[in-house]
Amino acid sequence: MPIDLLDSFGRKHDYLRLSITDNCNFRCLYCMPDEPFKSTSSVELMSSREIFEIARVFVHHYGINKIRITGGEPLVRHDFENIIRQISKLNVNTGVTTNGVLLHKYFDALEECNVKNLNISIDSLDREKFKYITKRDLFQPVWDNIKESIRRGFNVKLNMVVMRGFNDDEIPEFIALSHHYPMELRFIEFMPFTGNSWEKAKVIPVAEMLDLVSQHFTLEKITDQKNDTSRKYRISEESKGVFGLISTMSNAFCAGCNRIRITSDGKIKNCLFGADEFDLLKAFRNEEDLLELIQLGITRKHKEKGGQFSEMGSVKNQSIVNRSMIKIGG
Ligand code: GTP
Ligand code: 5AD
Ligand code: SF4
Repeated sequence: MPIDLLDSFGRKHDYLRLSITDNCNFRCLYCMPDEPFKSTSSVELMSSREIFEIARVFVHHYGINKIRITGGEPLVRHDFENIIRQISKLNVNTGVTTNGVLLHKYFDALEECNVKNLNISIDSLDREKFKYITKRDLFQPVWDNIKESIRRGFNVKLNMVVMRGFNDDEIPEFIALSHHYPMELRFIEFMPFTGNSWEKAKVIPVAEMLDLVSQHFTLEKITDQKNDTSRKYRISEESKGVFGLISTMSNAFCAGCNRIRITSDGKIKNCLFGADEFDLLKAFRNEEDLLELIQLGITRKHKEKGGQFSEMGSVKNQSIVNRSMIKIGG
């Protein structure tokens, strides 16, 4: 019988976010550090077998019932299909967070593996702006893959990081998408990570987004699931989809946190914003006790790290000791 993975505040962790690479074929300005970026060498990365064995411990021993594969960009890993086929043997609810540009190569494998949940980043519907953010002129293939994901019946969530003065004017257009397509469109507050040129002035708090949206549409609140990152709405009963707001900066949702993260080099990260790391891969390679280390990682989890940003004015990017987003995987 699995046991509950509980932290010191009684939160049960049943959702594992597994980063499988810190490499990416995009260069999103809010994610990649400014300095030249060096991805982890393949010997330091978890192999597909190590990924499976580590995930297996979480599923069998702690009853983890949801796994999300993240990156960097997970689909750039040449053995992605093998990884997803292995993970599917664990029979848990599985999802992938991706930039979408390589999805067409894997639709069939994802369907065969019963991977239903695709979270895809798209920060602008304008080709030039998309190119500016990602440093890649690839809006059209991403958009085509998004439409194909929806057509094939995946549960699609689109992630848009809102940056003041840059893409906030596109919010109504994005909301219209959530009316026309059966998917969830999420507006995410811009978060500071090491080297990502974050500035307080670029953050649009969710409350302000809601005000803006209310000027254009009449909103209907949708019931949120307990551990959801987003607060969801729709603009009409006829809407095929919904939109959600992710308020990491202005209103932390740490109280409902059920997430545990493993970085691509095999470190447990018990919080998106925490600097603490626990080297699970090293323990695995040395045949040490993984359960003890996992328990330590979860026990050391903070009550609320997102909350430190509620005073946004006091945040200075340089003062944040953490990996860059590309090395965490969201
Ligand atoms: P679901 O599995 O669909 O619930 O995905 P998700 O919303 O957790 O993940 P996704 O990878 O799509 O990330 C969407 C945004 O939510 C990103 O900006 C993440 O950084 C943010 N996010 C994900 N997990 C956490 C978390 O534990 N804490 C905080 N504060 N933000 C998170
Ligand atoms: N702020 C908010 N969201 C971010 N993401 C990446 N970097 C940031 C940031 N600085 C989002 C991407 C991706 C998800 C995993 O995290 O949009 O979809
Ligand atoms: Fe790559 Fe995603 Fe980071 Fe963009 S946000 S650079 S697509 S990992």
